Amino acid sequence: MDSILVTGNGPLNGKIPIAGAKNACLALMPVTLLTDQPVTLTNAPILSDIKTAEALLSSLGTEVSFLNGGKVLVMSSHNLKSSHADYDIVRKMRASNLVLGPLLARTGEAVVSLPGGCAIGARPMDLHIGALEALGATIELKEGYLHAKSNGRLKAGTFEMRMASVGATENFIMAAALANGTSVLKNAAKEPEIVDLVKCLRSMGAQITGEGSSTVEIQGVDTLGGTTHPVVVDRIELGTYMIAPAMAGGQVDLIGGKKNLLGQFWNSLERSGLEISETADGIRAKRVNEIIKAVDVKTEVYPGFATDLQAQFMALMCLADGTSFLEETLFENRFMHAPELIRMGAKIDVQGGIAKVQGVSKLKAAPVMATDLRASVSLILAGLAAEGETKVARVYHLDRGYENLVSKLSNVGAKIERISDNV
Ligand code: UD1
Repeated sequence: MDSILVTGNGPLNGKIPIAGAKNACLALMPVTLLTDQPVTLTNAPILSDIKTAEALLSSLGTEVSFLNGGKVLVMSSHNLKSSHADYDIVRKMRASNLVLGPLLARTGEAVVSLPGGCAIGARPMDLHIGALEALGATIELKEGYLHAKSNGRLKAGTFEMRMASVGATENFIMAAALANGTSVLKNAAKEPEIVDLVKCLRSMGAQITGEGSSTVEIQGVDTLGGTTHPVVVDRIELGTYMIAPAMAGGQVDLIGGKKNLLGQFWNSLERSGLEISETADGIRAKRVNEIIKAVDVKTEVYPGFATDLQAQFMALMCLADGTSFLEETLFENRFMHAPELIRMGAKIDVQGGIAKVQGVSKLKAAPVMATDLRASVSLILAGLAAEGETKVARVYHLDRGYENLVSKLSNVGAKIERISDNV
């Protein structure tokens, strides 16, 4: 298994190109199931999660080819052969559940494994089920699989979510795009990845309004055509690399970055003392002040502070001048980076959903590992600012969501390398 070695090496300077969004691409790939015409995604990120999604789609009969080194995905579902999303794939990646809505809409049935728990919490599926039942589907749970059926074409319906789930919003929109009549989703999630999904669906002929607001209206159409769609920029990769100079010092240009994707995160980072500005081709993050200010944050649905940036922000707050409180409201078990950061000298006390972080003047290298993607990258960030060589194990988590992490960071002056523990 590979590890990453990272050594605090002073300020970072240069440019980091930001890839297409993993989470957008994982919602855009199932769109191919809604049409027998080819769907091409450009600006796709090169990540193991995308390979997992490819394996899932291939198992259903979709033809997927990667062009341009993996940056372009050409998919065709003209010859679907299965409606069965197997446990072995779904357990690897929860976003596999995004085939449920489109498969059901296109074929009238979908058998999709329940994803099971994951490192960050239980992550139930009740909202996905409720959303599709509102469109006339019947859904039963048998032997760990959701069996969804529709008697003919799905029928338009209205569904109000008790909490704004990103995935359930995506499943509802994709399924309703082919339903008979006009469907309405209330308390919909507003994340930029949903706006990107709707942009793609619209280019295929879907009739949708209200995306990015809490009420989305979908007028079902008989068929959808093919399209070529560029995947939106990854706001979580962007936010992660903005924190790198905030911790290590220096000035980094995030190419392709956009302020309007970041919501509350931008303000929180600015309040911590980082100088951030928009440039002609992205965002500039510059550390001018030696002092990192303590900032309290509470994770919320977009445009609130993204839960997927909480671990990275905690790494920054470990070096703040003062005490900050980080509250996690979306996932019950999302502080597993805290014990690892503590091993690097951080002072963190977790009580329920709140972490109290007392800033220290220095972090010190240690061997660390994490159990999820964003937690893992928070340890890389901590390593960039720590004294000595930090060894981060379980690199496969990072491969799920950070394209070329080592080369992107070494290009701005970080001392970082990937090693194989087997040699
Ligand atoms: C997506 C993102 C993930 C991010 C999360 C929250 C993808 C592929 N993943 O995950 O990186 O951390 O949004 O921004 O886009 N919930 C229920 N019942 C359901 C569905 C969700 O109770 O049926 C709860 C979850 O347990 C969680 C909250 O709703 O507490 C938000 O989850 P959700 O928005 O669905 O996250 P995902 O779409 O899985």
